[in-house]
Amino acid sequence: MKRAPLILGFETSCDETGVAVVRGSTVLSNVLATQVDEHARFGGVVPEVAARAHVEAIRSLSHRALRDAGVHSMDLDAVAATRGPGLAGALMVGFSYGKALAWALDIPFIGVDHMEGHLFAPRFENPEYGPPAVVLLASGGHSEIVHLRRWGDYEVLGATIDDAAGEAFDKLARFLGLGFPGGPAIDREAETGDPAAVAFPRALADRPLDLSFSGLKTAVTTYVRSHHEAGDLPPMADLAAAIQEAIVDVLVTKTMNAVAATGVPAVGGGGGVLANRRLRQRLAEECAGAGVALHLPSAELCTDNGAMIAAAAAFRLGRGEVTSPDAEVDSSMRLGA
Ligand code: KG4
Ligand code: ZN
Repeated sequence: MKRAPLILGFETSCDETGVAVVRGSTVLSNVLATQVDEHARFGGVVPEVAARAHVEAIRSLSHRALRDAGVHSMDLDAVAATRGPGLAGALMVGFSYGKALAWALDIPFIGVDHMEGHLFAPRFENPEYGPPAVVLLASGGHSEIVHLRRWGDYEVLGATIDDAAGEAFDKLARFLGLGFPGGPAIDREAETGDPAAVAFPRALADRPLDLSFSGLKTAVTTYVRSHHEAGDLPPMADLAAAIQEAIVDVLVTKTMNAVAATGVPAVGGGGGVLANRRLRQRLAEECAGAGVALHLPSAELCTDNGAMIAAAAAFRLGRGEVTSPDAEVDSSMRLGA
């Protein structure tokens, strides 16, 4: 049997430089340089800072990924990098580096849709994962529910009409002074809190597959300001747990609506928000109740990484789809478009 191709994958769409070496469903190495500290003082990702930090990190990280995997660049069958969506300047770093490396090694280069990478991420640790399935993709920039009909054939069943779920976590954590990135901060703070302490609104109950989080942001800020003035603000842990519950509840309800609408036997997930412990627990409960399988990546493979980019690239390469050396990044790339 022919061996699966050995692929070096780069991810630089936002604030993590990710490089990985993957063969088939095996991650041989997966290294990450996070820029969290550089952006934390601004309370969010600064595009120019992100691009510069990728430039500084990418060369040594690329060497480390190869060394950790125990392979030489001459052994590689292809190089892959995120083409979009994301911050244009940040994308250009990994995309140009990857293209140049592939050119120098005289091997194919594959530009990958970041969200298709997230779609592929559960495969590493869940051998049964695959179509047909409903996949919840929730990150800092995107929140959508995808019908994975076949590999390469994705129907976006529903999406956020305003903020992404991760963006809601980030904005609300910043408002509460919990720091950046907000998702992990709220996840931690909520650990000892009561999710029923405050009943924050669940938006778009009349649109079973769409999501919305901007109303929650308004509800929380209004609530906190008025109760702060009245001197009866609940403890921070309760606020965090109630906010987390409102976001998780919407994500889980809509995902299960999509399962009912499509009749698929499995649910997958990807994107940083899927690292949320309460979300993982609720999805596990609901999927078990509905008799459908749940395939989630471990937390490290939910957040941005190079391995998922290499995985999606392997699929594209298998179909003979390589990216032209003239191709540019596409910061507004859309899944299924
Ligand atoms: O997929 P990702 O790493 O990058 C993007 O493509 O955006 O997702 C980052 C997002 C951030 O908004 C971050 O706050 C959120 O994922 N996130 C979490 C958790 N870990 C990361 N949200 C909730 N709970 C978490 N544990
Ligand atoms: Zn992502």
